[in-house]
Amino acid sequence: MNETLKVIAERYSCRDYKSELPPDDLLYAVARAAVQAPSGMNRQAWRVIVVRDRALLNDMEAEGMARLAAMEDQGMYNRIMERGGRLFYGAPCMIVVPIDLAQRIPALLDCGILCQNIALAATSLGLANVMCGLAGLAFAGARAGEFARRLGFPEGYAFGCSVLLGYANTARPPHEPDEKKISFIG
Ligand SMILES: Cc1cc2nc3c(=O)[nH]c(=O)nc-3n(C[C@H](O)[C@H](O)[C@H](O)COP(=O)(O)O)c2cc1C
Repeated sequence: MNETLKVIAERYSCRDYKSELPPDDLLYAVARAAVQAPSGMNRQAWRVIVVRDRALLNDMEAEGMARLAAMEDQGMYNRIMERGGRLFYGAPCMIVVPIDLAQRIPALLDCGILCQNIALAATSLGLANVMCGLAGLAFAGARAGEFARRLGFPEGYAFGCSVLLGYANTARPPHEPDEKKISFIG
C-alpha cells in the first residue's frame, strides 16, 4: 500500500477531542490542501474558513443543539445526547465551507470533494477529524445571518459543509470497507 492509500484506509470520524488547538502551520497545510481540490469547470464556488474562536464554536454548537431539541423528530437529538450531548464533540477547530448559492447543486458536490481533501490531509498530519453537516443547523434558523456575518461568508454564500479538527481524545478504528459494493464489468 502506498502512502496515499494508507491515509485513505486510516481516516475515521473522530467524535471525542482534546481541547488542544493544532498549530497554525498544520491548519494552514490542511486549508491549502482544501483549496487544491478539483471543482467542475474549476469554478471554485466555495470558501475555506478556519474557525479557532472557542466562543464562536460554542455559540454555533448551542444554536445547533437548541434547533435539534426543538425538532418534532427527536431521533437525531437523542443520538447526539447518547454521544455526550456535544454537537462538535469538544473539537477546538472547525473548517467551514460555504458555497455560492447561485451554483448550489454543482457547488455542493465540489464542497464534498474539498471536505474529503481536508479529511485526508488532516489524517496524514496526525489530526483527527469528522465531517459535520449538522453544523448547518446554526445557519438554518433565526441566527443564520448573525453566524454568516461572524464567519465572514461572502454575499450570496451559504453553509455547504464543515469539518471538525483536533487531536483525538478517544480514537476509533476506521470502518470496514464493504467490498461487496464493488463490481467489475468486462
Ligand atoms: C457530508 C457528510 C456529513 C457528515 N456530517 C456528520 C455530522 O454532522 N456529525 C457526525 O458526527 N458525523 C458526520 N458525518 C460522518 C459520518 O457519519 C461518517 O463518515 C460515517 O458514519 C462513516 O464513518 P467513518 O467516517 O468513520 O468511516 C458526516 C459525513 C459526511 C460525508
